[in-house]
Amino acid sequence: MLDDVLEGLSGQPKTLPSRLLYDARGSDLFEDITVLPEYYPTRTERAILEEAAPALAEAIGPGAVLVEYGAGASVKTRILLDAMIEPAGYLPIDVSEDMLAKTKPALERDYPGLPVHPVVGNFLVPPPLPDVDPRARRVGFFPGSTIGNLADGEIATFLDGAAEELGEDGLLILGVDLKKSPDILVPAYDDAQGVTAAFNLNLLERLNRELGADFDLAKFRHEARWNEAESRMEMHLVSLAGQTVTIDGRRFDFAEGESIHTENSRKFDLDALDRLLAASPWRRAQSFLDARGLFSVLLLERG
Ligand code: TRP
Repeated sequence: MLDDVLEGLSGQPKTLPSRLLYDARGSDLFEDITVLPEYYPTRTERAILEEAAPALAEAIGPGAVLVEYGAGASVKTRILLDAMIEPAGYLPIDVSEDMLAKTKPALERDYPGLPVHPVVGNFLVPPPLPDVDPRARRVGFFPGSTIGNLADGEIATFLDGAAEELGEDGLLILGVDLKKSPDILVPAYDDAQGVTAAFNLNLLERLNRELGADFDLAKFRHEARWNEAESRMEMHLVSLAGQTVTIDGRRFDFAEGESIHTENSRKFDLDALDRLLAASPWRRAQSFLDARGLFSVLLLERG
C-alpha cells in the first residue's frame, strides 16, 4: 500500500489507487452513496435486475455457483439468488474483510443450505477460489458499473481472468452505466449532502491513520468532473492552498488548485463496450436496459 501511494503521489498528475477508497469506513460511506437521491445507478440497476431475474435464472440453469467481484454488502446479489434455481454456492470477493464478515451470517440465515465462502482480495488478482462443486457451472457477477472504474488494460486483465476462473461454460453478468448528460452525471458524483465528498476525503484520512501521513483534510476539497473526451466522470481531491504533505519521511508539494486524481467512472455506449469485449473471451448474449436507457445489465457468454 505504501509503495502504491508514494508512486501515485510522485506522478504528474498526482493519483491515488481507487481501491484504497474501500476501507471499513469507505465501504460504509459507499453504501450511503447507493441510496442518495442523485445516485441513480444503484436503484436503476436493481430495477433492471428485478425485471431480468427470471430470464437470467433460466439462462443460468439449476445448480450454479455465483461468484461476485467486489461484493460490498451483497445487496443486489439477493435478487439473483432469489431467482436462481437451487444455487450451489456463493463466493463474494471483496477487499473489505469487515464487509464480508458482516454479510456472511446474514446470507446464511436468509438462504439456509447455501454455502457462502467469502474471499478477501482484489478481484483483479483474485486468490484461488474455493472449489464448492467442481462440476457446477460458475456465473460471475460484476455489478455497479465497477468495470467503468477500471482502465482498459485492467478491463482486459479482468475479463481474461474471469474467463479462466469461470470456465468454458461460465457466464458473466455485468452492470454497465451508460453515457448521458453531465447534468445527471455530475450530481451523481457530487451530491448535495456531501456523502461522496466524505467518501473521497476518507482516502486521505486513511493515509493519515494507516501510513502516518499528515494530510490536513480541511485543505482539500472533493471535485467531480465530466471528461467528455474520455467519456468518464473523474473524482479529484483539489488542494485549497500551496502546501506540503509528509508520508513516511517523503515530502509532497501541492500547488493551490492542484489535484489528486482518485477515481474514474467511465460511461459506455454499447458499441464501445462491444469493441472492448471483441478483444476478450466474452460476447454479449442478452442485454437489459431501463426504459430511460440510463443503465444496462448484460449477460455475457464465452465467444
Ligand atoms: N462503481 C461506482 C461508480 O462508478 C463507484 C463510485 C460511486 C464512486 N460513487 C463514487 C467512486 C464516488 C468514487 C467516488 O459509480
